Amino acid sequence: MKLAVVGGGSTYTPELIDGFARLRDTLPIEELVLVDPAAQRLELVGGLARRIFAKQGHPGRIVTTSDVDAGVADADAVLLQLRVGGQAARQQDETWPLECGCVGQETTGAGGLAKALRTVPVVLDIAERVRRANPDAWIIDFTNPVGIVTRALLQAGHKAVGLCNVAIGFQRKFAAHLGVDPARVHLDHVGLNHLTWELGVRLGGPDGEDVLPKLLADHGDAVADDLRMPRSLVDRLGVVPSYYLRYYYQHDEVVRELATKPSRAAEVAAMEEKLLEMYGDPSLDEKPELLAKRGGAFYSEAAVDLAASLLGGGGSPYQVVNTYNDGTLPFLPDDAVIEVQAAVGRDGAAPLSVPALDPLFAGLIADVTAYEDLALAAALHGGRERVFRALLAHPLIGQYAYADQLTDKLLAHNREHLAWA
Ligand code: G6P
Ligand code: MN
Repeated sequence: MKLAVVGGGSTYTPELIDGFARLRDTLPIEELVLVDPAAQRLELVGGLARRIFAKQGHPGRIVTTSDVDAGVADADAVLLQLRVGGQAARQQDETWPLECGCVGQETTGAGGLAKALRTVPVVLDIAERVRRANPDAWIIDFTNPVGIVTRALLQAGHKAVGLCNVAIGFQRKFAAHLGVDPARVHLDHVGLNHLTWELGVRLGGPDGEDVLPKLLADHGDAVADDLRMPRSLVDRLGVVPSYYLRYYYQHDEVVRELATKPSRAAEVAAMEEKLLEMYGDPSLDEKPELLAKRGGAFYSEAAVDLAASLLGGGGSPYQVVNTYNDGTLPFLPDDAVIEVQAAVGRDGAAPLSVPALDPLFAGLIADVTAYEDLALAAALHGGRERVFRALLAHPLIGQYAYADQLTDKLLAHNREHLAWA
């Protein structure tokens, strides 16, 4: 089996490699290609990746290249984890929206739109190359904003599934609270990428007993603290929102907070510098502790599970992924991309059915889906007016003056990345 990782020079890659090494029985990789345009980074990351494989006795070969076409040739699955413009572009996304009193975040609100505009054309170009090299290859997309990027891939007819680690993070945390094996915890996870709620926490599978009420009764404070939300909010929702819902439910508070501290991009850039220095140390042969301070916990487990199922191996039967709605949420178009539990196998992901949703959740999901639709149109076709329409539709922006000003700011900060601007 051959896998390629585009964006393989990411400082996250050792997390992935560690998972590949530990879970080699689930996903027997013979060749792993790390593809990245940043040659120096790639060598540092590739060196550590080889040492991790060697230490853990993984027989797979690790190859590094900056040539996408050569890297993806013959790959059975291609993982996309790239960041167009790097942390510098992210720093912008997190900053200029604040000037209008709107949240500055890399996947939510105006910053998320900027990221989508920069990213969709690049990902589509790579996906075309993957298809040309091997039309049967699966594309697993971690590249944010995952919902919009996955929709772009699916609309262009690619064999793609979108993945995020928010659900597996909850699964692991809840399992620890409940004192059970994480594999037994099945989440009723519903929404859009970075806009989800855990409506139930079932033991044993989709028909298992729902222990969410008990989990909240016994561990509600810990759950709320983790989300940095008031316990009373979680209790009144009666379900567990993802921490990305803070940007909605506590928008103004978050904006005030963001204005007083360095951006996440700046924090991450400083961490990356240290990480790369560590990766260059030939005596390091495991993923360093510092990597746990990044947001990608358990992403390797989720990726291995998904790749194993898509490639016909022994992944979990149900996994939380991003895929076409296809009637699952009846108030959304079939070709909207949702993030839900799905049966995953060689033919891809088929969402499990979801009970009728409380309008409290359905309303926001519908609004953000409409925004994502307009965002994708802007990413595919360009133009100031399309950017403006997406911003006006976004429930965190909505007002004419803000949408208009943010359009100018977005364009001014992203010209070098937008062919049409
Ligand atoms: C979580 C999200 C990812 C996001 C990451 C950011 O893992 O699910 O989509 O990329 O956090 O983490 P960072 O360490 O870059 O802030
Ligand atoms: Mn994510």
